[in-house]
Amino acid sequence: MTDAARLADLVELTTPRLRLRQWRDADRAPFAALNADPRVMRYFPSVTAREASDRSVDAWHAEIAERGWSNWAVELVRSGEFIGFVGLTVPRRAELPCMPCVEIGWRLAHVHWGCGYATEAAHAALRVGFERLQLAEIVSFTSLVNTPSRAVMERIGMVDSGEDFDHPAVPEGSALRRHCLYRITPARWRGAVGVDYAGGSTASTQEH
Ligand SMILES: CC(C)(COP(=O)(O)OP(=O)(O)OC[C@H]1O[C@@H](n2cnc3c(N)ncnc32)[C@H](O)[C@@H]1OP(=O)(O)O)[C@@H](O)C(=O)NCCC(=O)NCCS
Repeated sequence: MTDAARLADLVELTTPRLRLRQWRDADRAPFAALNADPRVMRYFPSVTAREASDRSVDAWHAEIAERGWSNWAVELVRSGEFIGFVGLTVPRRAELPCMPCVEIGWRLAHVHWGCGYATEAAHAALRVGFERLQLAEIVSFTSLVNTPSRAVMERIGMVDSGEDFDHPAVPEGSALRRHCLYRITPARWRGAVGVDYAGGSTASTQEH
């Protein structure tokens, strides 16, 4: 990462239907509810308790305040409803095969699946990563069986690196332990942008 990775002024992104913004206290309850939903947490070892959910909010809030980016809270432009998170983070586990790396990730409330929101927000996050942060690469990883998340990775132009690995946080013997690793470079991303999504293009991303 370069000095551009500190963007104290960059806190919010807007896409045609979504706002990616700093976390608010009002997000804590709906975020805890989606983290407690077994459908949302199907590809994780367990659902997340309220305390851990709040700790994630605290950490991402602090990162956005400090450097301008992290996992952003995502809300619908039309209603202001909080729907989950999408963003860029630095994984902390040294054992991951992609380290050091910046990861793109997402988690939305079940009622908001099937609308293209994760893909739309991820396009905006990739733009920040490559145009503003000047990253040389962005990765994403998930359980091999998490086909909805892998589909988002593929829709945004990421490539399966074939470097499958056992995630150290998932218990041995679990069907969720084996993970795939997707990667995308600025060159690949430039070739993929302009792909139409949600009736718009990444060119409509605005930063405030
Ligand atoms: C991963 C996750 C965000 C994907 O959600 P999703 O709704 O499948 O993905 P998108 O928001 O990109 O929506 C794409 C779907 O919306 C549909 N869609 C409907 N209207 C659309 C529109 N206007 N524009 C684009 N797509 C639209 C697409 O056809 C696609 O449907 P399909 O899967 O039936 O083909 C969701 O499953 C989730 O939150 N999972 C739990 C958390 C998780 O596993 N995270 C990853 C861990 S590493």
